[in-house]
Amino acid sequence: MLGQNTAVPLGTVAPEAYAQVEHRVKQLCARHAAKLPFHGWHHVHFVRTKAGEFARSNGSDPAVVETAALVHDLNYIVLRNSAASAGRDLRMHVLARAGVDEAVAERIDAVVLEAEMSSRDADISLEAQALSDADTLFKALPVTPVMLAHRYLSENGVTLRELAHKIVGEQRGAHDAGFYFYSPEAKAMYSHWATANLDLWQCVVEALDDPSVGELLEEVTAE
Ligand SMILES: [Fe+2]
Repeated sequence: MLGQNTAVPLGTVAPEAYAQVEHRVKQLCARHAAKLPFHGWHHVHFVRTKAGEFARSNGSDPAVVETAALVHDLNYIVLRNSAASAGRDLRMHVLARAGVDEAVAERIDAVVLEAEMSSRDADISLEAQALSDADTLFKALPVTPVMLAHRYLSENGVTLRELAHKIVGEQRGAHDAGFYFYSPEAKAMYSHWATANLDLWQCVVEALDDPSVGELLEEVTAE
């Protein structure tokens, strides 16, 4: 826990508090692993690591950003197929129990909400940009539709058609407006993955309009 004399700059997360948040989130992910096949510890760990890299690159506070990454998807424990806001109470509880200053916890909660794919814009904070780039990169990884998309369907109780429309609906605008990624390095390294991923999901939308593809999927899911 944070001591009175811990030398930490105002407005950040002390290493001891960070370690406690990490420990608690890991525990929660393990306890609720059965309902987190997509947003489990593997996702949180990836986003935390990449968000820290983006934070060090864009000059925002890595401790705040990495802590935000640790707690950004707690909503999926609270409520299936929910928005980040559904995780606020659990998020604030985890942060408070770890000894994160209340004002910093509020800032972390705000960063999580700012970075949400469905509502983010070109002008979010640098901390939210770092978190968003890491979370968006996970979505755009070429391995995600191949290895993980079916896990998203079962975790959130949605159909392939609903997921395809959600991805294209939420991501195409940001992609075309130029803020799919915020960091210049992420744009340079990963934009072709993002474009390929969006094209793939657009093709899924189109394919599902063919009744024969619909029948095919019905047969597959009935097996
Ligand atoms: Fe996420």
